[in-house]
Amino acid sequence: MDLKNYITDVPDFPKEGIVFKDISPLLVNARATNYAVELLAKGLYDIKATKVIGIESRGFLFGSLLAQKLGLGFVPVRKPGKLPGKILSESYDLEYGTDSLEIKAESIAEGDLVIVHDDVLATGGTAAAACRLVEHCGGKVVQCNFLMELDFLNGRKKLSSYSLHSLLHY
Ligand code: PRP
Ligand code: MG
Repeated sequence: MDLKNYITDVPDFPKEGIVFKDISPLLVNARATNYAVELLAKGLYDIKATKVIGIESRGFLFGSLLAQKLGLGFVPVRKPGKLPGKILSESYDLEYGTDSLEIKAESIAEGDLVIVHDDVLATGGTAAAACRLVEHCGGKVVQCNFLMELDFLNGRKKLSSYSLHSLLHY
């Protein structure tokens, strides 16, 4: 099964000049989704890990399935103002301006070994911020895990200190 057949290009979305990778056809197909999760998990059974993080919002889709597959707990990293209690926040650069991500401080314990999952690795700013959050909580990132990597944007440069796995490359 070629998973790229379940990801469609949408030109000029959400802005002109951007080709959006739409994973809706993958998500609507249970067999293809299950296969994708199996491949995302491959290689992780031999790595010691205690938690999976998914980055809001598209990182939630496969992140929690991956956590289940590996028998690990899932921790959401969210956009600002969504999480209650004591939170930690990290900002990152966008094309214009900055944005930030938040985590519940208690959700990662000192010594946790964390897999950071997102759907797409583009410029790497989002995933790098999530990794910093894990580290501020006292956890260690054992793998950055992506469904897709947009190779031409060189996002992996920002994550060079981590082990990195992307299922599909464009
Ligand atoms: C997209 C994508 C990744 C991020 C990658 O999320 O889902 O999370 O951008 O970009 P980067 O590597 O250049 O930082 P987006 O912020 O569009 O939000 P969404 O997941 O809520 O759709
Ligand atoms: Mg996202």
